[in-house]
Amino acid sequence: MSEDAANGKSHSAKGGGAMYEEGGVTVLRTSDLSEMLAAGTREVHEKAENSEFVQDFLRGRIRKELFKLGHVALYFTYSALEEEMERNKDHPQFAPLYFPHELHRRESLARDVQYFFGDDWQNQISVSPATERYVHRIHHIGQNDPVLLVAHAYTRYMGDLSGGQVLRKVAQRALKLPADGEGLSFYEFENIHSAKAFKQLYRSRMNELELDTATRERLVEEAVRAFDFNIEIFRELEEFGKTLQEDVFDAAPAHDREVQGDV
Ligand code: HEM
Repeated sequence: MSEDAANGKSHSAKGGGAMYEEGGVTVLRTSDLSEMLAAGTREVHEKAENSEFVQDFLRGRIRKELFKLGHVALYFTYSALEEEMERNKDHPQFAPLYFPHELHRRESLARDVQYFFGDDWQNQISVSPATERYVHRIHHIGQNDPVLLVAHAYTRYMGDLSGGQVLRKVAQRALKLPADGEGLSFYEFENIHSAKAFKQLYRSRMNELELDTATRERLVEEAVRAFDFNIEIFRELEEFGKTLQEDVFDAAPAHDREVQGDV
């Protein structure tokens, strides 16, 4: 994530150079899947970034209850995603993107959720309606149309690798979490040395998949859908937030944030 982006300004890093205007129509210059995904999700990415929940988060206005529920939603989402990726790890249209060691988040989310809910965490948490819809879609495609998993993996992991460090820092300060990273394992990709280099590798793996144009277009549609599922979860959290008392706020002043450059 760039500093501008972290400050809520618009950014041009996504899909740069892939599109141009011709007679008022936006034309995509490339058939690379990575470029198609970046360009095709630009608008919905902005919508996600601008959602109230995300904006509050970036400003350090995080309520612990909401942060915990957000982590629960992520736990169920990644459990479904990683279960379906395991099932399809040898599928030729997914196998090159199978990086369990580097990417998988289920275990780290389980650690975080245990930290927040205690040893009985598994009995304390339940799947919310918006998360249920997301999880249902992931299982459906994993079992019926596995190539579409590419879109879901892209939407989550590339996003996590782009913004993780900034979000980690904001959360740690706002929630006063321990400096050793307890409760924040989700943001820690221990087995990725350079997020930037890994994203480049992931993009080139996506571009090497043997996919016809129609399938690449279906992947863009599915990625937009994946963003929408995330936005629906943010909305649900916003609604839940309205039922919480203001004094549950644990805010850090926005200017007090140390924001680093691209991760
Ligand atoms: C990429 C910012 C939220 C998914 C990026 C990049 C930035 C950014 C600057 C470009 C990084 C690069 O080119 O290397 C933000 C900010 C967010 C946010 C400020 C709000 C906190 C989200 C959310 C999702 C998401 C909620 C999806 C759930 C992605 C994906 C990419 C990305 C998939 C990769 C784009 C590509 O290169 O194809 N984000 N993001 N982001 N973000 Fe976000």
